[in-house]
Amino acid sequence: MISKRRERKDEHIENYLKTSGHNDPLFDDIYLDHNSLSDINFDEIDTSIEFLGRKISMPLMVNAMTGGGELSADINEDLSSICQSLNIPMAVGSQTIGLEDEEASESFTLIKEKDLVRIGNLGAERSLEDFKNAAGMIDAHAIQIHLNVAQELFMPEGDKDFRGYYDNIKNLLSQLDVPIIVKETGNGLSKEVSKKLIGAGVKYLDVSGSGGTNFIEIEDMRDFVSDYKEFYNWGVPTAKAIIDARSLSKDVFIIGSGGIKTAVDMAKAIIIGADMTALSGEALRYLLLGSYEACLDYLKDMNKRLKIVMALLGVKNIAELKKVDYKLTGRLKDLVD
Ligand code: FNR
Repeated sequence: MISKRRERKDEHIENYLKTSGHNDPLFDDIYLDHNSLSDINFDEIDTSIEFLGRKISMPLMVNAMTGGGELSADINEDLSSICQSLNIPMAVGSQTIGLEDEEASESFTLIKEKDLVRIGNLGAERSLEDFKNAAGMIDAHAIQIHLNVAQELFMPEGDKDFRGYYDNIKNLLSQLDVPIIVKETGNGLSKEVSKKLIGAGVKYLDVSGSGGTNFIEIEDMRDFVSDYKEFYNWGVPTAKAIIDARSLSKDVFIIGSGGIKTAVDMAKAIIIGADMTALSGEALRYLLLGSYEACLDYLKDMNKRLKIVMALLGVKNIAELKKVDYKLTGRLKDLVD
């Protein structure tokens, strides 16, 4: 069972690199006016924000991906070193395997040594005890509860009984003393689901919308017999999920993820309502198809390019970026109520 889980994790990583990536987070449907009178000194632009009690260098984190096997340990070691050197947070992948196997837990515990905001990760079906242990395993500043109904449905050996998630989340909120982030895994939190979660008292939402990593396709690739192409477009596009969540509450902390690849995506996500952004797949691509340096340079460049976007808009900090006016076009305009 544990070796099967390790194998599956490695297959996810390999298959991710082969996915078609044709889904659209709809950031292109957000129009921003250029500011020819930008009254800004580029060198004074401040991209930092406060997150979980710490000042981080930009509104971006590396989101949950892996842990368990040897490949995962190497990836977590590299990503956590990169995040530490850039002072951005990192979430580890699902810690289920670490709870069941002492050796596998080392691929998670290694991040404890790093001076950065550390975020744990488990599925919405796991017990309070499991969440406490997962948080302890990495000395977590927060823990993500992931919602992955779509992935499980298309995973040949996946769970098919999704009852009780909501009640379990409510219970965890009242019992766990570590901040909780409820996140999707690439199919997006709908307005209705965000409303329920905010109503239950969730303070941190990661919309993880469609338009980036596509777990339906990743799982479909693991099964040579099935062909589920008609589901590849399933999900709430990231831009819509952010706008919908923000329309429900001014206070909930929104993490915009799902298809964030560029600084323009990052800026647009913030302008339409996210407090910060997160990316997974693109960091993995630079790391595995490139190198440690390529991944580090890519993320470092995201910060420089975010400053360029901010200079083009005439804003000097993230609070001002959030106030920039925008217009919706195309499909996104049709989809937002
Ligand atoms: C993921 N993701 C993920 N999410 C989660 O909550 N727990 C997990 O264990 C994993 N595992 C995982 C493995 C791999 C290889 C990838 C690429 C992704 C989902 C991830 O955190 C994120 O929600 C989605 O990938 C969407 O963001 P991107 O990849 O489009 O930036």
